[in-house]
Amino acid sequence: MLTENEPPTSGRRPTEDWRDQVIEGDAREVLATLPSGSVHLAVTSPPYNLGIPYQGYSDDLAYGQYLAWLKEVWTELQRVLVVGGRFALNVAPTSIKDFRPIHHDLSRGLRDLGFIMRTEIIWYKQTMGRRTAWGSWRSPSNPHIVPSWEYVLVFAKGSWRLDGDRAEADISARDFEKFSDGFWAIPPERRRNGHPAPFPELLIERIVKFYSYRQNVVLDMFGGTGTVAVVAKRLGRHYVYIDRSPEYCLGARRRIASTAPAPPEEEGPRAAPRRHAVRR
Ligand SMILES: C[S@@+](CC[C@H](N)C(=O)[O-])C[C@H]1O[C@@H](n2cnc3c(N)ncnc32)[C@H](O)[C@@H]1O
Repeated sequence: MLTENEPPTSGRRPTEDWRDQVIEGDAREVLATLPSGSVHLAVTSPPYNLGIPYQGYSDDLAYGQYLAWLKEVWTELQRVLVVGGRFALNVAPTSIKDFRPIHHDLSRGLRDLGFIMRTEIIWYKQTMGRRTAWGSWRSPSNPHIVPSWEYVLVFAKGSWRLDGDRAEADISARDFEKFSDGFWAIPPERRRNGHPAPFPELLIERIVKFYSYRQNVVLDMFGGTGTVAVVAKRLGRHYVYIDRSPEYCLGARRRIASTAPAPPEEEGPRAAPRRHAVRR
């Protein structure tokens, strides 16, 4: 098994040593080398095709081409997920004037592939302050809405339920109550770690604790600074990190190496609150 002190792996991997690794390569190609039914939770934020200057990648495809490319990645993802495995897709609304409902297009593509759409979480970034988008100031002629939020769209493969050992669930009653309200107010990540678009650890901690058990495998196929891998390792999950940029892989490897697994939080007994009715 590769250790975190070795250089990131490149290209195709043998299937036996794919857990707890930083893998440098194209998301779809690397996913194609992973065994079927081996990942419990994928969390990612793909490139949004907005011309962002990532290391060694043009974030500027024709829109149809972009959606078709991601659909190929999701097809491989579907294969590697276990039945009941979850996919949390973070996506931001596009620009104010050239608004394109990318979250609708992505969720349509995933549902067409057969994914169950479980929910959408609103990640409220609290970035408005006292700003406004102006547009037509104080006139209905052409006012704009500022996207001060992002989405986390949550899908499942084949089943709403994820089998696992109840003793490996590590979410406290307080957190469960808090996270099940799908409006999450979390400030954006201020430490960039040399990357244009990292997401905050707090956002990923919530997703990982809410949707996976300890010892599960958590994947990010557009891994960037390694936030998902770092949080997964800290919370006692296995991680699989993929990114095509050698620089981001190096940075992620350092971050992961300096992260230690944390013991699960202790919590005293606490009564469960009343449930909302759910059909499944
Ligand atoms: C939005 S960023 C992800 C940032 C990440 N969530 C974090 O917290 O750092 C998208 C990442 O996808 C990577 N990427 C772009 N195209 C890729 C491809 N074809 N295969 C793998 N990674 C790719 C980029 O290098 C970039 O790091």
